[in-house]
Amino acid sequence: DFGLDHKGGRLPLEVTEATEGSGGLGISKLLSETGYVTLDPGFVNTASCASAVTYIDGDAGILRYRGYPIEELAEKSSFLEVAWLLIHGELPTPEQLASFDEQIRERTLLNEGFRSFFAGFPTSAHPMSVLSAGASALAAYHPDLLDPFDPAQVDEASVQLLAKLPTIAAYAHKSSLGEPLLYPDSSLGYVENFLRMTFGLPTGKYEVDPEVVKILDMLFILHADHEQNCSTSTVRLVGSSNASLFSSVSAGIGALWGPLHGGANQAVLEMLERIHNDGGDVKAFVNKVKNKEDGVKLMGFGHRVYRNYDPRAAVVKKATRKVLDTLGVKDPLLDLAMQLEEVALADDYFVQRKLYPNVDFYTGVIYKALGFPVNSFTALFALGRLPGWIAQWREMINDPATKIGRPRQVYTGSTERHYPAK
Ligand code: MLT
Repeated sequence: DFGLDHKGGRLPLEVTEATEGSGGLGISKLLSETGYVTLDPGFVNTASCASAVTYIDGDAGILRYRGYPIEELAEKSSFLEVAWLLIHGELPTPEQLASFDEQIRERTLLNEGFRSFFAGFPTSAHPMSVLSAGASALAAYHPDLLDPFDPAQVDEASVQLLAKLPTIAAYAHKSSLGEPLLYPDSSLGYVENFLRMTFGLPTGKYEVDPEVVKILDMLFILHADHEQNCSTSTVRLVGSSNASLFSSVSAGIGALWGPLHGGANQAVLEMLERIHNDGGDVKAFVNKVKNKEDGVKLMGFGHRVYRNYDPRAAVVKKATRKVLDTLGVKDPLLDLAMQLEEVALADDYFVQRKLYPNVDFYTGVIYKALGFPVNSFTALFALGRLPGWIAQWREMINDPATKIGRPRQVYTGSTERHYPAK
């Protein structure tokens, strides 16, 4: 303890000196390295909080939703089943699942006013900006669903978001191509409807291989929650001010967009493309990463929580080859990704640092094979993450101990100064 004045006093001289001119040793790093991190009730929504939604053991590489291992859920359940599980804490009965599915199907249609909303964006708009704006705009269309303490409103807002976010994501894609928007088809399942709105055309029947539907459904399951990551803690923090679920999710989408978070799947594919275009020399690339040459980074490797293989990446890796075979797609980027993993994991540099592939490493190859443009990969992550955001927001709102989040500030600026006499 540096004996810092918690009411906003200045850091002691030795800390200030160590920080200033220390070649990038930032104050946050210094404070955390010296153990100067404290908890207070106002901190709960940002730095630490108790949650019963998702369990991660980063050393063992274990991930469970409400106690159920991710591998079992990915194999045996559907995305809507997992959404219910995350939100309500238990697997749904067949009747509950059927009614949940029905409620969602009935709400996929957007208000016609959204037509001018989509038309108002340039075709170059990143789908995440449109998605975030769309989630926020839902609050404008549902002013009767904004009270976080009315359970019926929260239930309805949750279903509205689950139903409408895929429609918004699909329309963001269609608008960027200048193609007409397709009405949702309530006879189709969750993922199939989304794929049809994304890739279907007004004329002709849209047909999709059930295997493709299954794989995207599984990818959504794998992304459905990941405890207090950047976007989820954003959703909780915004919600802690009692802002609506729509606004909180909109903020979460913004947080997810960043290349260090959900945007990493886009960054991985771009990295693989670059290696391929440069002749595909994986070893040379790995050496560049080790020598930190030209700021080159091995995207999709390493994770703040995992000191082991990300269990989601293990499931995705197994599925990737199968999907490409099902679709009859031969993509040199998959071989490149596999070689990259092999070379990296045979190298002490990565093993000692416990840098293993994370969930973003293989997903981009699948999304590309399914026909999604690179800039929509993060929007797919957002669709998958939505039930987790909803579950975590509801958990936070229902906890009587929740206070508005307010990270503690450690003041590092000047001491009191007086305006110079003129
Ligand atoms: C996630 O799934 O949110 C990412 O792996 C990032 C994280 O958990 O910190």
